[in-house]
Amino acid sequence: MRQAGRSLPEYRRLREEHPAFSDVIHRPELAAEVTMQPVRRHGVDAAILFSDIMTPVQAIVPGIDIHPGKGPVVETPFRTKADLDRLRPLDVDRDIPYVVDTVGRVRNELSDDVALIGFGGAPFTIASYLVEGGKSREYRHTKTLMYAQPEVWAELADRLADITLASLRAQVDAGAQAVQVFDSWVGALSVSDYRTHVLPATARIFAGLADLDVPRIHFGVGTAHLLPSMAEAGADVVGVDWRTPLAEARRIVGDRAVQGNLDPTALFAPPEVVDAKVRDVLADAGGEPGHIFNLGWGVLPETDPEVLTRVVKVVHALGAA
Ligand code: CP3
Repeated sequence: MRQAGRSLPEYRRLREEHPAFSDVIHRPELAAEVTMQPVRRHGVDAAILFSDIMTPVQAIVPGIDIHPGKGPVVETPFRTKADLDRLRPLDVDRDIPYVVDTVGRVRNELSDDVALIGFGGAPFTIASYLVEGGKSREYRHTKTLMYAQPEVWAELADRLADITLASLRAQVDAGAQAVQVFDSWVGALSVSDYRTHVLPATARIFAGLADLDVPRIHFGVGTAHLLPSMAEAGADVVGVDWRTPLAEARRIVGDRAVQGNLDPTALFAPPEVVDAKVRDVLADAGGEPGHIFNLGWGVLPETDPEVLTRVVKVVHALGAA
């Protein structure tokens, strides 16, 4: 899950030497190193590429920055039909060669039994940054665009879907063995708005990946109400946060796998409580295949890395039992 690295002293040391977050993403030797850090330390079964959901659009649109502690900031927000002209298709070789290079390096360095997960942003979450200009609580401008200019919104969502799709296909070509599409903020929508304004563009990404034969993971936060619709978007695995019991998620998503869902703040509990909560997650998943153990959302930077290592050990011990 995002930001496992942020809790690590080795990541912080590297960031002291390279304070600009985007520099690390743009330099394959650094991005590959940071991708490997949590794998070396925790012995997890999969690595997630070090990059950001905004990386492809950042390569296309000038004036997008990612501020640690604040997230993506877009200098001139997207609010009108004319803004669509600022969003041409992604040219992988020209726009994100460093992402492709990083994937290749990481794949070479990882052992065969550790998977590399590539990722991208879903149209709603990326659009929310572009339209609001940064992080939002209410998504007022985003929803206004959706309601007042539905054709402009639909075109924006489709273009963003195509950008993410191109980036994900390139990551798989370069060696990623699974892909995850993050729709972190989509829980803010009603079921009806999701179905009308977001599901079609999101489904386009998963359909466009179908021929690659890699597991496709779809992740959101606070999405209990959206799960039946998200299952229709076409991923193989649906990720849920700690608010939704995995057993319930399984019932809803049918024959798809589920991912999750330990609360990242549970890692601050006493060790025996952490262990019990990990056991609860596994028990809730039902001991059946088709569950990827994960946190329900990103690792908090203040997390003790040793607790994470322990969680991995407990999961491996119980998962093998
Ligand atoms: O863990 C990893 O390093 C994997 C790579 C990864 C990052 N961002 C690196 C990153 C992944 C998978 C993401 C996805 C991402 N980026 C999402 C979706 C997942 C989620 O957690 O919801 C979102 C919404 C973003 C946009 C974004 N980028 C946010 C909200 C932030 C956090 C700002 C903050 O510091 O609170 C970022 C910056 C970011 N992306 C960091 C990392 C490691 C932190 C920068 C730093 O301090 O090093």
